[in-house]
Amino acid sequence: MPPASSVLRPGLRTFKPRRSRITPRQRRALTDRSHPFKTPEELTRDWPTDRPVIIDIGFGSAEPVIDLATAFPEQTIVAVDVHSPGVGDLVDRCRTDDVGNVFVVEADALDLLAELPHEAAGFRSFFPDPWPKSRHHKRRLVQPPVVDAIHDHLIAGGYWHIATDWAQYAESIIELFDADERWSGGIIERPSWRPVTHFERRAIRDGREVFDMWFERR
Ligand SMILES: C[S@@+](CC[C@H](N)C(=O)[O-])C[C@H]1O[C@@H](n2cnc3c(N)ncnc32)[C@H](O)[C@@H]1O
Repeated sequence: MPPASSVLRPGLRTFKPRRSRITPRQRRALTDRSHPFKTPEELTRDWPTDRPVIIDIGFGSAEPVIDLATAFPEQTIVAVDVHSPGVGDLVDRCRTDDVGNVFVVEADALDLLAELPHEAAGFRSFFPDPWPKSRHHKRRLVQPPVVDAIHDHLIAGGYWHIATDWAQYAESIIELFDADERWSGGIIERPSWRPVTHFERRAIRDGREVFDMWFERR
C-alpha cells in the first residue's frame, strides 16, 4: 500500500492504479537509481538555485519532456510520475540522449509537494486524469487543496500551465481560479512550443477540443 498523500485526505489518489508490462530496457533504466533519478530527499538537496525549475506533474511519456528540456536548456525540468514504465522510458532517454537538465522523480507529486522546501518558477500538468464521474471529482488534480499547495511552491510571478481535453474540467478549473484573487490568467491560445502529448493525440483523434490554461501567482 503506498503512503497516503499529504495534500489530499489520506487514501485519496489523483491517479488510476495501472498494471503495465515493463520492458527489459525500462527495467534496466529503473534499476540504476543514479542521475537523472532523484528521490524527494535528493531533489531537496540538489535543488538548482541558479536556474528556473519547472515541475511537470504526471508527465506520462518521455518524448514531450525531452522536447521541452532540449528547447529550454536554461531550465531544469523536474518530471514527476508514479507510472514506472513511463519513468523508465524517460530515464533511459535522458541517458542515451545525454539530456542533463531533467530530474526524474518516481513519486506521487502531492507527497513530494508536502515535503518540498523549495519554490519553482513553474508547474505544468498536461492532460491530468479528468475523473469525469461526479463521485470521482474529489480525485481530480486541480482542486482547492492542490491549488494551495502549488501556490505555496511557486515564486511570485510563477505559473501553472494546465492543458485538458475535458471541457467540463476546463470550466471547473477556470471557475476555481477566477474566484481566487491570488492568481491571474485563464485560457490561452495553444503555445506553439508545447509538444503534442500522447493523451492530446488521442483527444485530437476523437475530435475533442483542447484547452490550454495559464495561471500566474500574483
Ligand atoms: C492522463 S495521463 C497524461 C500524461 C501526459 N501528461 C500526457 O499529456 O500524455 C496522467 C498522468 O498523470 C500521472 N499522475 C496522476 N496523478 C499523479 C500524481 N499525484 N503524481 C504523479 N503523477 C500523477 C499518471 O500516472 C499519468 O501518467
